[in-house]
Amino acid sequence: MPTASNGNGHSGNGVIPISESGAPLVLGGLAIAGSPLDVAELERLANEMFRAGPEGAGLGPDTPDVPEVSGESIMGELPVVPDRLNGTAVGDGSGSSPEPELLQWAYLVDGAVPSSPGAAPAVEPDPRAAPATPSAPKPMPAADPRTGSAPSSAAGAADLFALHGERLSLAELGLAEVPRVSAADPAAGSYYFMDESRSFATSETSRGGAPSPAAPGTGTSAYPAFDVQAVRRDFPVLAEHVHGGLPLVWLDNAATTQKPTAVMSRLDYFYSHENSNVHRAAHEMAARATDAYEAARDKVARFLHAPSSDEIVFVRGATEAINLVAQAWGRQNVRAGDEIVITWLEHHANIVPWQQLCQETGATLRVVPVDQSGQVMLDEYEKLLGPSTRLVAFSHVSNALGTVTPAREMVEMAHRYGARVLVDGAQAVSHMRVDVQDLDCDWYAFSGHKVFGPTGIGVLYGKADLLNTMPPWQGGGNMIRDVTFERTSYQPAPVRFEAGTASIADAVGLGAALDYLQRIGIENVNRYEQDLLAYATEQLLTVPGLHLIGTAPEKASVLSFVLDGFEAEEVGRALDQKGIAVRAGHHCAQPIVRHFGHESTVRASLAFYNTCAEVDTLVEALRQIVMRGVQL
Ligand SMILES: Cc1ncc(COP(=O)(O)O)c(C=O)c1O
Repeated sequence: MPTASNGNGHSGNGVIPISESGAPLVLGGLAIAGSPLDVAELERLANEMFRAGPEGAGLGPDTPDVPEVSGESIMGELPVVPDRLNGTAVGDGSGSSPEPELLQWAYLVDGAVPSSPGAAPAVEPDPRAAPATPSAPKPMPAADPRTGSAPSSAAGAADLFALHGERLSLAELGLAEVPRVSAADPAAGSYYFMDESRSFATSETSRGGAPSPAAPGTGTSAYPAFDVQAVRRDFPVLAEHVHGGLPLVWLDNAATTQKPTAVMSRLDYFYSHENSNVHRAAHEMAARATDAYEAARDKVARFLHAPSSDEIVFVRGATEAINLVAQAWGRQNVRAGDEIVITWLEHHANIVPWQQLCQETGATLRVVPVDQSGQVMLDEYEKLLGPSTRLVAFSHVSNALGTVTPAREMVEMAHRYGARVLVDGAQAVSHMRVDVQDLDCDWYAFSGHKVFGPTGIGVLYGKADLLNTMPPWQGGGNMIRDVTFERTSYQPAPVRFEAGTASIADAVGLGAALDYLQRIGIENVNRYEQDLLAYATEQLLTVPGLHLIGTAPEKASVLSFVLDGFEAEEVGRALDQKGIAVRAGHHCAQPIVRHFGHESTVRASLAFYNTCAEVDTLVEALRQIVMRGVQL
C-alpha cells in the first residue's frame, strides 16, 4: 500500500514514514520513539536545512556564513522600478516606443479573429455572420493567444519583482487606524461567525472584548531547537498579539497559510505600478499587467513541473477548479451507468461537485475505504475500478487527517482502467514537491491561499489535449475567439476557462509566494515539517486522554485529535483564549471525521514557520485543559 521508499527513508510521496502504530518515528536518522527528542540534533538539522536553501533563506542573523540582507527580512529590498517599466517600452523590453504592429495586434485582441492552432472544435462561425470589417488589421502571427501580447524578450515584470523585503506600513497605505480589537465575545467565549443561528449583522456586538489574562510562555520552551526566527520575520502577522497581549500561535495552516512580506509587497507593487486589465487595450499598463499575470502562470507551471503554461488555468481556488472539471468535462463525458470514484478522505469540495454530477447524469459515486490509520486501502480501491469507471478524484493530502495518499500509484491504477484522474492538491502543495508529470494525473487543483499566496486565486492544471477538448464552463470576456449573435467560438486553453476579469493581482501574488517557497526549498520545508510533526506527535501523545485521529505512515504536518471528556469546539475556544489558533470542527470533511466516530476534532496544522516552542505552548495549554477544564 505505501509507495516505495526512495532510498532516503522518504517515500515516493516525499514524506518520512511513521510506523503502522502511528507512534514510533525515525526521521532522517533521528529516532524519537520511546526516548526524548534529541534537541541538539533537531537544531543541527534545522540549521542544515536552511543552509541548504538556495539563498541561505531562513538563517538567523547569528549565522555567520550567510550575509544578512536588508533589515529584518531575508528577502531583500524592494527593487528600483526598472527603466522598462518607467519608460514607454511595451512587451519587448527594448525601451523603445510601442511598435505600430503591437497596437494593431492589441486592437485585434478585442476585435478580430486570429486563427489559433490549439483551438478546440467549438461552435463554428456562422457563414451568414457579418464579415470582418475591412479595416481589421492582419494578425501578428507570433502573438500568444494567452497573453494577447507580442512575445516579450525581457523577463516579465513579475520576474523582476518576485522577492521583496519591505512592506509599506499601514500608515503609508492610509490604513493607520485599524482597530486592534478582538472579534471575540469573552463572555460567551465564542465568535459570531461560529454560530450559524446568528446573522453577520450581529458581529459588531461581539467586538471590543477585554484582554484575556496571562500570555502563554512561548519563549520559555525547553526546546529552542530550531532557529526559524529569520523565516518568521518574513511573516509579519506571526508577530501579532491577540486577546489584548497574547502572542499569536498560528496552528491553522490547513485552513489558510500566512503571507510573507514578499507576497504583500508584490501585491502593493502591482497596484502601484502595473494595474490594468490584462490581454486587452493598446497601452503600456495593459502590457505590464499582462506580463506580470502571465509570468505568474509560468511560475505555477514550473512549480508543478507542468510541460506548458498553457496547461495552467487560473481559478478562484481548489473548489472552483474541481467544479470546473465536473461541469465542463463531466457533463460532456459522464453518462448514466458510469461510475465516479472518490475516497473517504475527501474534502466536501471533492465530494459535492461529483454528487451533483451524478444526480444530473445518472452516474454512480463509489467511495474507497480507508484503514484505521486513515490511509486509502489500495486493494479495495482496485476492486472499485472497472470499465464503468470514468473518473477518479482524490486528495493528495487529507485536510482532516494529514494522510498523504499514494497518488502516483492511484493514478496509474485508474489509468489502467481508462479512467481520468483529478488530484486535489489543496493540502499538498505547501508541504511537498508536486510533479504533475511524475504523477501523470489528468488534472491537479490547488488554492493560492494555502501555499502562502493570496485568497481568491487558485490553479487547475490539466493536460493540454484534455483541456482543449473540454467546453468552457462560463462565458464572457476574453475567452472567446469570435462572437456573433448566432455563434461563439472559443480560445484554446487556458484562456477559454478564464471568462471575465481574473484575480490578476492575486495571481501575481501567488507567483511571488511560489518564488518565496522556491527560495527556501520545498524539500527543506518538507524535511523540517516532518521533524516538527514527529516532535508534535510525540508531545501530544503525552497529554492524558488525547487521541490522535489519523496516524497513517505517510502524513503531512496535520494533527487531528480528540480529548476525552471535552468537545472539540470547547477545546478550540479554550486554546484560542491562550492565543493558539487551531481548527475545531468537521474540517469540511464530515464523512471521514464521522468514519472515525466523531462529529468534530481539534486540528493543529503546522507550517515551516512553526516552532517546537509553539508545539510546547499547545501541549501545555492542553494539559491545563485536562487539569482545570476549559475555563483554564
Ligand atoms: C483537501 C482540500 N480540498 C479542497 C479545499 C477547498 O479549498 P478552497 O476553499 O481554497 O477552494 C480544501 C480547503 O480546505 C481542502 O483542504
